[in-house]
Amino acid sequence: MSEEGNLLSIFEAHRGKLSDKWSSYLSLYDHAFRPYRDRKISLLEIGIQNGGSLEIYAKYFANFEHIVGCDIEQRCALLRYGERIDVVTGDCNEASTKRAIACICAEFDIIIDDGSHVSGDIIRAFLNYFPLLKPGGIFVVEDLHCSYWQNWGGGLYRDVSSISFLKMLVDVVNHEHWGNGEKRREPIDRRFPGILPNDAEALLSEIHSVQFHNSICIISKALPPQNALGLRLVAGTEALIDEGPRLSGGASSDESDQSANPQAFFRDIKAENEVLHKMIVERDAQLVSLNNLLVDRNSETQTLNNSLAEQRMVCRALHVALAAAPPIRVHWLERLLWRTTLGRRLCRILFIRGQAQLLEDYRLVLGSGQFDLLHYIKYNQDALHEIPDPILHYLMVGYREGRDPSPLFSSRKYISEHGMVGDINPLVHHIRSTMK
Ligand SMILES: C[S@@+](CC[C@H](N)C(=O)[O-])C[C@H]1O[C@@H](n2cnc3c(N)ncnc32)[C@H](O)[C@@H]1O
Repeated sequence: MSEEGNLLSIFEAHRGKLSDKWSSYLSLYDHAFRPYRDRKISLLEIGIQNGGSLEIYAKYFANFEHIVGCDIEQRCALLRYGERIDVVTGDCNEASTKRAIACICAEFDIIIDDGSHVSGDIIRAFLNYFPLLKPGGIFVVEDLHCSYWQNWGGGLYRDVSSISFLKMLVDVVNHEHWGNGEKRREPIDRRFPGILPNDAEALLSEIHSVQFHNSICIISKALPPQNALGLRLVAGTEALIDEGPRLSGGASSDESDQSANPQAFFRDIKAENEVLHKMIVERDAQLVSLNNLLVDRNSETQTLNNSLAEQRMVCRALHVALAAAPPIRVHWLERLLWRTTLGRRLCRILFIRGQAQLLEDYRLVLGSGQFDLLHYIKYNQDALHEIPDPILHYLMVGYREGRDPSPLFSSRKYISEHGMVGDINPLVHHIRSTMK
């Protein structure tokens, strides 16, 4: 028979090797271990330090078959116990340590992980030793508060902490309701790549329950059929509110298909973020090139606006010129003479530079595109008040005064280069000679 009292009183009365536990653990363990208390159980504790806990468990489970303690601290090999209590030294997650433990005892009813409390170690210890747990046994993870602490590989929002891993086991227990076709191991594989062994699906299918308490998680093991929801049982005959349950009696859970439920499928937010980030970078680059294009277009628009302003200026000048220009009146005799080649020759021989010729020259110069109105207005402001029409001014007096019809044409240079004598307009001469 086990020693009198509960685990707390046994702990408090203990005088041998030292052990330290948080007070809430003792009442919790008393409740969790009670079903095993009088049985011939085997217990493994990972992390024993001073070894007191093994002595206390030996007192609590008086009919125990085997108690094994494991510690990475080599000096733990110096700890001496009575029969059926053994200590294995070494890292619990080393294959050799596991082999040494399994040699002493192949299966355990209770496994307690009170080892390093580092998240990675806790997860690996669970995966290594849960297979050594008997169906009906419990696996206890102690001091899970470390899972929230950075120095133990944890943090409240650290998705690879030991508590995050253990939380995922809650979904594993409810695997049959996922409705998305995924295996139990798939979500864990995604979050903890490479951590699960090949036979993880079988291991996970034996998780019967997952209980969380302050700093403690208790995972119980059962054969897979005992982990299913089971058949729907109906008792009673009066169904005043809903006939449904009576009709569903004896049925198994409808494995609802969740293929249309987007929330039933994994979304790789990290990958999606990366794609979105890439898109933003590309859009930013497009924006920069569009902005550059806009700058180019703006400068083109500016140039066009300037040219428009110049054209408007020319137009205004022409309007003024036209309004002020004396009308070119051609006498009927002159018009008659000018109609024929002979008449024109006669006029020229007689050095008559009449209004009709002036009109013809005006049309010729205007149509040639070689008279730069803007240029002429700009450089001959002084003279235009007399004859405000620039072309008329040039044809009537400007060429004689050596004024130029455009920056490309020098009246004086043309006259001297062509040895022109008499009253011949150099630009008119030039246009006529290029037309021939
Ligand atoms: C909190 S103490 C154990 C306390 C003990 N269970 C008790 O109740 O008094 C943690 C122990 O785990 C051991 N330990 C740390 N990492 C380990 C590992 N990887 N494998 C086995 N033991 C480990 C440490 O050497 C330390 O002695």
